[in-house]
Amino acid sequence: LHTPKAVIVIFGATGDLAKRKLFPSIYKLYKSGKIGEDFAVVGLARRPWTNDVFRTNVKESLQNALSIEDDAEEFTSHFYYHSFDVTQAESYTELNGLLTDLESTYETGGNRIFYLAMAPEYFGSIAHRLEQNGLKNSGGWTRLVIEKPFGHDLKSAKELNKEIRVAFDEDQIYRIDHYLGKEMVQNIEVIRFANGIFEHLWNNRSISNVQITSSEELGVEDRARYYDHSGAARDMVQNHMLQMVALLAMEPPIKLTTDEIRSEKVKALRALRQLDPEEVDEYFVRGQYGKGIMKGNEVAGYREEAEELHDSNTETFVAGKVMIDNYRWAGVPFYIRTGKRMAEKCTKIVVEFKDIPMNLYYKEEAEKHPNLLVINIQPNEGITLYLNAKKSGMGSMAEPIQLSYTNNGVSGMNTPEAYEKLLFDCMIGDTTNFTHWDEVAHSWAFIDTILNRWEAVKADFPNYDSGSMGPEAANELLEKDGFHWWDVE
Ligand code: BG6
Repeated sequence: LHTPKAVIVIFGATGDLAKRKLFPSIYKLYKSGKIGEDFAVVGLARRPWTNDVFRTNVKESLQNALSIEDDAEEFTSHFYYHSFDVTQAESYTELNGLLTDLESTYETGGNRIFYLAMAPEYFGSIAHRLEQNGLKNSGGWTRLVIEKPFGHDLKSAKELNKEIRVAFDEDQIYRIDHYLGKEMVQNIEVIRFANGIFEHLWNNRSISNVQITSSEELGVEDRARYYDHSGAARDMVQNHMLQMVALLAMEPPIKLTTDEIRSEKVKALRALRQLDPEEVDEYFVRGQYGKGIMKGNEVAGYREEAEELHDSNTETFVAGKVMIDNYRWAGVPFYIRTGKRMAEKCTKIVVEFKDIPMNLYYKEEAEKHPNLLVINIQPNEGITLYLNAKKSGMGSMAEPIQLSYTNNGVSGMNTPEAYEKLLFDCMIGDTTNFTHWDEVAHSWAFIDTILNRWEAVKADFPNYDSGSMGPEAANELLEKDGFHWWDVE
């Protein structure tokens, strides 16, 4: 089998993402033989670094991210640095010269990946200039990888898309949502459609509600500038959370092709109930963390984390009820919940099945337990099915039991696992696990209403303690429908 060959050009090569995710991912692809010797990486940023400084930096990143002892000399010899000003035409012509040289050294056939891992305000103009300065005429394929955020709202996302589409076709654009690279997120589709026992129950006749939680322990860290401009709805809900909703709600694809899968996801997102501004408070809850105790240590509230945050109205927590108005899902709430500085770092999905009409096997109402399917995404990876079975011994009373599967093939969170898969997909030209423009547009349209309402009304922040599971209103959101958040694995 041929390994893919390409030159990978990273815009923002001195940044955090490159260091924490991209270099380690490329290294793992190299070590596992998924890519051979015919590749090169060109790092671009403003700093006047040399190749040597860059290579040392790459080595450090590997040591930190992967705790390896390997001096990675051979690997890093494929790395080149080029000091770059994204606004200068000469920068692009010089880059083109360098790429042409590397293409003959590494025999990469003119295949180029342009990976934008930097401030989003330049995404559009970089795409444009790459085209204008002939960097796409390389004799091979050219692909553009774009990190989030893809726009700040629907309007700006549309503008950005328009700018990019002047230079790149939709099938050359790889919009990253790293959740789509996670093993158990990819597994949602397989669990649903490769098992006869789930599909005919996967609808409003048998499922009472679905709960998706992605909680984080970390606070805003050193990203105050980005985060305060963004907030949890833009940072997590517009992309990761709604992508998981789409995968859980979509119809079975007729084929496992990119177009078929993406079009089913788009259809699910099209069915999202658009809220009226006055309905937002009924369906959505926002929160911002105050101080609290995390693992025995006192931590500061969001507003104390940096000078510019002292009267911030930005949400660090979102809980919401998402309705999908189609035949399959009418009446079934999909509850989502995500936030910073919560009690634990954990992403999971709980599918709660409806109660049976009559259950004779429990004496107390309170002991009854519905069937649940839990999909553990991180840090544990696996699935658990909650059933009821006979209590051993005399009598025929029931008790809840669990069937569990743990996927221990891969290591847990903070590994470059997801990026490794997505980078490889990009190298082989598979856009399935990247977000299509139509998905981005529908999810922004949904989020915009919520954000408009929140921007118009000042919140009573802070409203949850660091180390908790969010504001009380997030619990009430489910209680008023007769449900509660399941704390199960
Ligand atoms: C990113 C957000 O997209 O996802 C971060 O910008 C967040 O704020 C991160 O911490 C969470 O990703 P993961 O893979 O750790 O769940």
